Amino acid sequence: EGGDRPHRESWSFAGPFGTYDQGQLQRGFKVFREVCASCHSANFLYFRNLAQEGGPGFSEAQAKAVASEYQITDGPNDQGEMFQRPGRLSDHWPAPFPNEQAARVANGGAYPPDFSVLAKARSYHIGFPGFITDAFIQYQEHGVDYIHALLTGYVEPPAGTTVQPGLHYNKYFPGHQIAMPKPLSDGQVEYTDGTPQTEDQYSRDVSAFMMWMAEPHLDARKRMGFQVFIFLILLSGLLYFTKKKVWKNVS
Ligand code: HEM
Repeated sequence: EGGDRPHRESWSFAGPFGTYDQGQLQRGFKVFREVCASCHSANFLYFRNLAQEGGPGFSEAQAKAVASEYQITDGPNDQGEMFQRPGRLSDHWPAPFPNEQAARVANGGAYPPDFSVLAKARSYHIGFPGFITDAFIQYQEHGVDYIHALLTGYVEPPAGTTVQPGLHYNKYFPGHQIAMPKPLSDGQVEYTDGTPQTEDQYSRDVSAFMMWMAEPHLDARKRMGFQVFIFLILLSGLLYFTKKKVWKNVS
């Protein structure tokens, strides 16, 4: 049984000229680190990425400061021991659990998936068999539409439905019973830019942040695509006139 079909939301990064909204990525990062990161890892996210072009737009000093707030296990040292030290730009985001087994033990047997490319991995959750979606109706924002829906989709189970112990009813999760407890509610994370502190807004922001994690070069790629497009139009014109000139004397 599939989940309900998520609504299509409007995202700043949708469409051929879409770009990430820096403020939104910064808020999404805050939601991620204060809420989601206590269960989910993001192994491909490096602290230096926070200051990289096309991302949340932190300065290098800010990214360094964030890194130094985390303790990273390093080693072995000369004595063959592992040790803890503050994070650096070259470290990846520290996982909340040392390994999958530990993560499962802490989550009633379920594994909170790594966030690095999850916004893309979830693109098939729209109620069609995956191969049809992939072949015919793929759009870039499937994944984030689903994540936003999932995070706001915790409702009372319909009468007559028994929710298994340790699971939670969610309209959009395939099968409707998910091991993740409802992670967000109004007022939970403080925003300093006046953006409404609502569950819906948090879900949008963290989804956008997850999209950036999965597609960090989206902006640059779209820009390049557009330039290639213009170039090809110009080249077609040139070739057309060249052809006319070269073949002028052939009847
Ligand atoms: C699964 C997002 C916070 C535990 C998931 C999935 C997503 C997600 C997209 C995959 C769902 C699917 O398979 O279709 C988030 C976000 C969070 C957050 C954006 C922060 C706002 C948390 C927290 C916990 C948690 C705080 C632990 C208390 C889990 C678990 C699963 C899961 C155990 C696996 C669920 C299952 O397979 O039944 N999460 N999560 N998550 N999450 Fe989270």
